[in-house]
Amino acid sequence: MYILGIESSCDETSVALIENGTKEIYMSLASSCDLHEKTGGVVPEVAARKQVEFLLPVLHECLTKSQEILNTSRDNLIKHISHIAVTKGPGLIGSLVVGVEAAKTLSVAWKKQVIPVNHLIGHLYANFLVHEGIEFPAVGMVVSGGHTDLILMKAHGDYTFLGGTLDDACGEAFDKTSRTLGLSSYKLGGPLLSKKALEFTGAYTPVLPRPMLDSPNFDFSFSGLKTAVKYLYAKQTHSLEFIAYDFQQAVIDVLTKKAKQAVIKTNAKSILLGGGVLANTALRAALDDAFTGTGVSVYYPPIRLCGDNAAYIASAGFYNPVESSLEALSPNPALTIIQN
Ligand code: KG4
Ligand code: ZN
Repeated sequence: MYILGIESSCDETSVALIENGTKEIYMSLASSCDLHEKTGGVVPEVAARKQVEFLLPVLHECLTKSQEILNTSRDNLIKHISHIAVTKGPGLIGSLVVGVEAAKTLSVAWKKQVIPVNHLIGHLYANFLVHEGIEFPAVGMVVSGGHTDLILMKAHGDYTFLGGTLDDACGEAFDKTSRTLGLSSYKLGGPLLSKKALEFTGAYTPVLPRPMLDSPNFDFSFSGLKTAVKYLYAKQTHSLEFIAYDFQQAVIDVLTKKAKQAVIKTNAKSILLGGGVLANTALRAALDDAFTGTGVSVYYPPIRLCGDNAAYIASAGFYNPVESSLEALSPNPALTIIQN
């Protein structure tokens, strides 16, 4: 059986057909990211309007391509869809409502139940699309443009929040720092900053702070680091490449240490990583290194599944199959890890 996933929490509109939570039949995706790049940040009203514009073509593409791939008729395809999984939150209300209403409409038209999915948990389930044998308990770490969270996953559906950022999300700090350094703003900031960091060569002595590195909890803070970059850049004592490298390294140091402590404290067998910042290859390498020889398995999704997409929403729906009545289903922009 297949699950149709729908994701519309921010500026990506995506629909995917997934078999048994693990096999991607097809995923379609459209983004209004370019528009927000021009304004230096997401404009919720613009993102919502683009969701409305994109949703039906993206749905149509997913269904049509899936039919071709499976060599079947539309009726037969729909017959084999067991559920519709949709992002319930967190996210932008105007964007979320488009996906949720689409899911409700398909639910009525096709007589299928809807599974609401927490977008943050969804990011972690990108791993189930590409990795086999993931063992619980696991620590989940979401590092995205809007979130930085550590979660204990005792089993599918059994999640405990361990800690998270007290101010800026990790990706947000990358994007704002990138803007300070004149590279870019919004979502291209992270990739451009990490590219600049790669250009740094020579001896390395850290200068920037590692906020909350030694705090006795699983919380993070990236706002002070961002400000420290601003002052360092203004002093003109270090190259752009050095500052980019030192900023990235500071983030990596904190994420890696807290992830390791969370795994030790919870006796986790695996660590599941997810979110757009996981596209950062230096971060991946540091996390791999940190757990080498510990017996803990490190899982991260391929780069194409790190950003927002509907494939992981369908996978999360498969493994967390809590159906909702249509009356009870509404978007929750402030949904937390432990809410349904
Ligand atoms: O998960 P995502 O698509 O959006 C949210 O759900 O929030 O993540 C987008 C974030 C952006 O902040 C972007 O700058 C960051 O992921 N990002 C990166 C890299 N690629 C994307 N951050 C650091 N290094 C990268 N290579
Ligand atoms: Zn996301």
